[in-house]
Amino acid sequence: MQLQTSVYEPVGDEKLRQDFVLGVKLLVNGRVQNVVREVCQQETAPAVKALGREPSRAALAVPLSQTLAFRQWAALTHSSQSMMWRAIEATTQRVANAAAQRFAALPPAAQRAGSLELDPRLDIPHPIGDTEIHRQPVGYVSDGSPNDLTAGLRYLGSGQIYSPGKGASGAGLDARGLQLAKLIKERFAGIKPKRILDLGCGMGMSTHGMAREFPGVEIHGVDVAPGLLRFGHLFAEEQGTPIHYKQRDAATTGYPDGYFDLVVSSILFHETNHDKLPAVLRECRRVLASGGVMFHLDVATQVAHQSVADQIMNEWQVRWNGEPFWMGFAETDMKKSIIAAGFDSTSAFADYAGKPGGGQRHIFGARGYGDSRLLAGPNRHANRAFERFEHDAGADVTNPGHA
Ligand SMILES: C[S@@+](CC[C@H](N)C(=O)[O-])C[C@H]1O[C@@H](n2cnc3c(N)ncnc32)[C@H](O)[C@@H]1O
Repeated sequence: MQLQTSVYEPVGDEKLRQDFVLGVKLLVNGRVQNVVREVCQQETAPAVKALGREPSRAALAVPLSQTLAFRQWAALTHSSQSMMWRAIEATTQRVANAAAQRFAALPPAAQRAGSLELDPRLDIPHPIGDTEIHRQPVGYVSDGSPNDLTAGLRYLGSGQIYSPGKGASGAGLDARGLQLAKLIKERFAGIKPKRILDLGCGMGMSTHGMAREFPGVEIHGVDVAPGLLRFGHLFAEEQGTPIHYKQRDAATTGYPDGYFDLVVSSILFHETNHDKLPAVLRECRRVLASGGVMFHLDVATQVAHQSVADQIMNEWQVRWNGEPFWMGFAETDMKKSIIAAGFDSTSAFADYAGKPGGGQRHIFGARGYGDSRLLAGPNRHANRAFERFEHDAGADVTNPGHA
């Protein structure tokens, strides 16, 4: 069942426009993009080679971007994004007051299933606070009033067009979390976490699916964007799902050492400042209990995994389409970064899940720090680490004594 919310429901012409934009995006990200790849392979690269040059990204970027195929792709990519935000804004403005009222009408904090803790003094890492990521109007972090949910409404609207338009399956509000949980369970069979942390949780698209797939678990989500967190909290409370949302920086979450036995993120790393990545990974290590699991899911844009044409299209999006952090992430070897953050090299992984072109994902993670004694083999370590969790269940998992 696809989980939806009545807080944001496009109607009439809004729906027609949004469906049209989705159609355009499917065309652009499918056929139109394929033509660019073909032109690059069959025309631009041979032409560069004929000049005696290596067909590298640097050598191909200018000649490819001058081809008709690339210019058509770029124009359609940019204008479909503008169309998307215009179409979403119509719904956002229509429902914003009702959403704010629903938020204001939530029961007192003590009667809620979960919680929301906002910190207006949080030092939002530069340039995340002032960037319109994906060209989302006024960005994720902007905040109008104590009941302002507009950032969440826009994000949800784009989640129903942008991601499916790129081939990601399921536009349900928790689809990302369901996918994340499925991949975690596939890799770590028998995993039974007791406390989960979702970093860069946004409005909870990832957190909800995780809560659904790991029922009864204490689950926390942190993000820097108050409007997204408010929306996530409203949705969680209306569903009766106990999720604890906090406005915090993923690099300094404030949780005690070893507090979580599963630390996850969904599409955080390509949307955060590249300089932050090492600090975020170190924070994961710090808050992860011994033998616990860190598991991140992100876009499959690593340069080592992509054609030169795709890299050039991505670079273009960095420059012109509100994706400032894409290339920093794409050029980072996540396995090396995980090891550099102090995780055990035998448990660190960075792989791909799914088929190219069909919403493929980059997944990376490791076991909690201090578990190296348990890592004698891929199957054995999973079981033994979890035996240990069972054993620790009655103990104070916040202080496993390995820091
Ligand atoms: C693409 S959204 C992903 C949201 C959610 N996980 C999902 O799957 O829909 C990336 C999120 O990361 C958040 N973010 C970026 N940098 C962050 C940081 N340093 N600390 C916490 N959140 C951050 C953004 O505010 C945004 O909500």
